[in-house]
Amino acid sequence: MLIDSHAHLDEPYLRDNLSAVLERARLEDVKKVVTIGVTPASSRKCMEIAARYPEVYATVGYHPHWAKGAGPERLTEIETLARDPAVAALGEIGLDFHHFHSPRKPQLELFRNMLEIASTLGLPVIIHDRKAHEEVYDILFEFRARLTGGIMHCFSGNWDLARKYLDWGFFLSIPGPVTYSSSHDLREVAQKAPLDRILLETDAPYLTPAPHRGKKNEPAFVRYTAMEIARIRNTSLEKIARVTTENVFNAFRIQELETRGGPDPETHRPEP
Ligand code: NI
Repeated sequence: MLIDSHAHLDEPYLRDNLSAVLERARLEDVKKVVTIGVTPASSRKCMEIAARYPEVYATVGYHPHWAKGAGPERLTEIETLARDPAVAALGEIGLDFHHFHSPRKPQLELFRNMLEIASTLGLPVIIHDRKAHEEVYDILFEFRARLTGGIMHCFSGNWDLARKYLDWGFFLSIPGPVTYSSSHDLREVAQKAPLDRILLETDAPYLTPAPHRGKKNEPAFVRYTAMEIARIRNTSLEKIARVTTENVFNAFRIQELETRGGPDPETHRPEP
């Protein structure tokens, strides 16, 4: 069993075909999907999808792209949504100094506001960091002691930066571009990071892995990411699937332990 730990099922391409998208995922053994909120409205949609489909978990978040519209009412809305016990994490949140859909100042303010909410509610955070490695690291450093846990979504740093987040107990989420031969840093991180701290994600409908590059991405394609990581690490797809599935339940706030797919055969052998 595989889990896509980061998809945007509320995006029209996926939302309008959701049953078919989830069925195609199931056929590839992708049995769970975490759908990630990026605004108050998107977060609400993600929560609705998770309520309707038992194989979907939802997060509530406010992406830096939309920071300039994040007035007090919308921040309150995020906090209210995030109090729902079904919420698996607070994210995605962070900084994007590549696209600059919002100016720098509101991005920094929103990021701090979101980290306050996550700290208060005891929710792990999902971090978007695009060309903002230093600023993201410095702000997380301030909040680090108060945070319950962290996931570096679509990790885009090098191995040196990866090690810093691993030292904090954070998880590194590996997206489809690990299948591109040009992704040197990402492939190095996927090879060197401890397997119990790696998550697999699609970021669907974006970042489609190599065999389908150019098409829209969907949760079923997380399988290609898993296969590539197995190849890079010279291990089996089964092992990658088993450990990264366990990792999702350690990284996110997900209580349904029975969905783990049974005990781990290697660590839970029956007594002789
Ligand atoms: Ni995303």
